Amino acid sequence: MIRAVVRGFGASLPKRVMTNRELEDLVETSDEWIVQRTGIHQRYIAGEGETTASLGAAAAKAALDNAGLAAADIDLIICATSTPDNTFPATAVNIQNRLGIHHGFAFDVQAVCSGFVYAMATADLYIRGGMAKRVLVIGAETFSRILDWTDRTTCVLFGDGAGALVLEAAEGEGRTTDRGVLTSQLRSDGTHREKLYVDGGPSTTGTVGHLRMEGREVFKHAVGMITDVIEAAFDATGTTADDLDWLVPHQANRRIIDGSAKKLGIPLEKVVVTVDLHGNTSAASIPLALAVAAGDGRIKKGDLVMLEAMGGGFTWGAVLLRW
Ligand code: UT7
Repeated sequence: MIRAVVRGFGASLPKRVMTNRELEDLVETSDEWIVQRTGIHQRYIAGEGETTASLGAAAAKAALDNAGLAAADIDLIICATSTPDNTFPATAVNIQNRLGIHHGFAFDVQAVCSGFVYAMATADLYIRGGMAKRVLVIGAETFSRILDWTDRTTCVLFGDGAGALVLEAAEGEGRTTDRGVLTSQLRSDGTHREKLYVDGGPSTTGTVGHLRMEGREVFKHAVGMITDVIEAAFDATGTTADDLDWLVPHQANRRIIDGSAKKLGIPLEKVVVTVDLHGNTSAASIPLALAVAAGDGRIKKGDLVMLEAMGGGFTWGAVLLRW
């Protein structure tokens, strides 16, 4: 059977780092509060000329270099983002153009913080269905552009950046020892839409709007939803937490990450945490974390890796893959 195997990874961050201390000048907050409640120490903020597409294209180029491939080798680009350069065309098409390719096809996936998990599941289906052989899966965001910088309950949490994987079709045996994506579990429930949303849009206000969140409400649901889909991924593959080499969670809040790992019996040594460095970069957080942990040699070929995310919608999901 065909499997979608990771062939390369890459990341790109804006030049500017913003520390918690800098936020103390903007809103009534403190480094201590932010670190204690979230684990965030700093985030990257896009400057002039840095956009979701420019960061996404840079991450894609890094992933192609890491894979030893050229842009010409790619036949599908999927970009997960909620902060596109334009309402349309899709940021993925913008990135395709920046990579200098005019063949194949490209589209965006919008599932907010779960976007990268949704994009991985989508890429896996295109590859296993035979419609694509090599796919760039990108998570890219510039949430700084939709933040209300006077709202301390949200502006301290988010950051900008992009990460990418190259997935390639490879022959597998249909066992969990195969490299590649082993299962994807996706969920959504729109009854929670007002707990985390943007208060504008093309069809309602005709404006871009700002991010609004009832943080405590999101927090209340997060651990349960995350552990449910991870358990579903274990059940679907006959694997258990003991088999896992790495949990690479969406990086929203250190307390949610630790709580989920504890509930699943996954030791914290097996959890990749980058929320301290990047803040919450929505759909970019998982590929950024993967690039850090694969880049420093923690995640190795053959490792069993669980990706998970939960966010606006609500949407949530998990992807289990062998690296
Ligand atoms: O990625 C998509 C998914 N999003 C998430 O996963 C976010 C989920 N939620 C969270 O991570 C947490 O709920 C937050 C980090 C947003 C907030 O932490 P919390 O422990 O739930 O705090 P809280 O909202 O209950 O607020 C506690 C207090 C409040 O003051 P009072 O009412 O107790 O007097 C807030 O007004 O902290 C206050 N507060 C702040 N204080 C200093 C809220 N934001 C700040 C701030 N600095 N930036």
